[in-house]
Amino acid sequence: APSLAYPALKVGNINNLRDGQAVYFNYPDGSAQGVLVKLGQRAIGGVGRGRDIVAFSAACTHMGCGVQFKGGRFVCPCHYSMFDPAKAGQCYQGLASTPLPQIRLRVAQNGDLLAQGVVGLIWGRARNI
Ligand code: FES
Repeated sequence: APSLAYPALKVGNINNLRDGQAVYFNYPDGSAQGVLVKLGQRAIGGVGRGRDIVAFSAACTHMGCGVQFKGGRFVCPCHYSMFDPAKAGQCYQGLASTPLPQIRLRVAQNGDLLAQGVVGLIWGRARNI
């Protein structure tokens, strides 16, 4: 998938997260929603001590509905596609045919989580750069 270097943006702090918690934010701009989760288990591209914090575009790759974090996975409320946050956002059930774009995270010295780029194309954006 293409990797796009959007500017870095603080989207949370590692010290404020609990296992199983999802935090929504806007990235790379106000018209795109992202979501970060602390899974409590190692994940592809995960950051933090347990390599368990990952972030994704929250726009379902089928038709763009906002995905919800339930039971350790992302579920789309529109047509029930399901995505695995530990496996780079892979769609394992439903109508979506591509993974959720993964937002690259970096941890700053003070624990701030910085979004700094997206792997994959965010649904519905004519310009992804
Ligand atoms: Fe998500 Fe259709 S928009 S499954």
